[in-house]
Amino acid sequence: MPKIKAVKAREILDSRGNPTIETMITLSNEMSAVSSVPSGVSKGSFEAVELRDQDQGRFKGMGVLSAVKNVNELIGPKLVGMDVLDQKKIDSSMMEIDGTQNKAKLGANSMLSVSCAAVKLGATASSLPLFLYLKQFVQSNSGKKLPIPMFNLLEGGKHAGASLNFQEFLLIPASSKSYPESLRIGSEAYQSLKQILFDRSESTLLADEGGFSPNLATNQSGLKTIREAIEHAGFSYAYDAFIGLDVAANSFLDGNVYKISDRSVAYDSQDLGEFYKVLVTDYSLIYIEDPFSENDLKGWKKIASDLSSKVLIVGDDLTVTNPYRLQQALENNVVGGIIIKPNQIGTVTEAIAVSEIAKFKGLKIVVSHRGGETMDDFIADFAVGIGADYVKFGAPARERVVKYNRLLEIEEELKRI
Ligand code: PGA
Ligand code: ZN
Repeated sequence: MPKIKAVKAREILDSRGNPTIETMITLSNEMSAVSSVPSGVSKGSFEAVELRDQDQGRFKGMGVLSAVKNVNELIGPKLVGMDVLDQKKIDSSMMEIDGTQNKAKLGANSMLSVSCAAVKLGATASSLPLFLYLKQFVQSNSGKKLPIPMFNLLEGGKHAGASLNFQEFLLIPASSKSYPESLRIGSEAYQSLKQILFDRSESTLLADEGGFSPNLATNQSGLKTIREAIEHAGFSYAYDAFIGLDVAANSFLDGNVYKISDRSVAYDSQDLGEFYKVLVTDYSLIYIEDPFSENDLKGWKKIASDLSSKVLIVGDDLTVTNPYRLQQALENNVVGGIIIKPNQIGTVTEAIAVSEIAKFKGLKIVVSHRGGETMDDFIADFAVGIGADYVKFGAPARERVVKYNRLLEIEEELKRI
């Protein structure tokens, strides 16, 4: 098997216009693969470190030249000569050089760009579609079913400059729908939401993930508007399509209370839990991500005991694709599903390991992009490869469509094997 000949990184821009890192790996037979990494703004505090230059004279401190240097000068020389198919060795070599718990030395961004490029190149060198190549790293049976897409139609919180506090209002097609049907439902509801907002003289400007960001008075009115959009597009609400929420409650925790526009008085975690109960009943919600802040265990325990039989409760900022955080969530029995974001942990091998433990413990797997993205569609293959139950790639619009469109290709490829 051809060996790794060169590893070269550069600084590029992501969809929010901020710098991110792209790495190309080349083999001795001149085959090559490129991968770039996304970036979050609505982060859990336990995520691995995303290395930024902190040089205020460039990109307001957001530059990634130090991460690029780490790839070119520290990681690259160590990987040259290695077998590209030995992903575990590639990832563990980087972890060795880094030597920290949270990737503070090399940066999870530099490590992940290398890790993903190596996986892509391994697939190319093996003449396999990427998702099939990835399946060999997964013990659990990932089957042939594509994940259910969750479309972010309406955005608030840190992703939008408007009034909604909940970060993502998600349309979730019924599990009986095929992937192409699901994509059509997401797209048609998105277009009808645009029309509804336009007819009401609300803003149709888009937020970070391509969803709309109108100045609606309350979060409940957001839910109502999406329900209307689903019905207006000709679908039966809570039959063809459902609603889910990524609340991202870290972002509106103020001291120890939660401030949202649905009530003038702030909510303590008990009150917020009661509010969720009302929303689940009134809007037949089937999914709630990060309903409480990452440290509000009391809130998480309450919602798990009140609502886990009715709605999938998912950790993102709570669990940050980290085995220790997952372990804690499992011990406290507070989640039914986990978000898997490779850049929260830094290597593909570690992200798969966390997903495998979660799956073994009966959790649903939700593979997610980040708010700041590139045109890299790696995550679509990754989701299918590890047998995810759901994916979140943003709205069915703008640069977000590259991942949704890649799933269309995979759907066809799966029929041929
Ligand atoms: P982020 O948010 O990628 O901007 O951190 C996404 C999420 O919370 O799911
Ligand atoms: Zn989230």
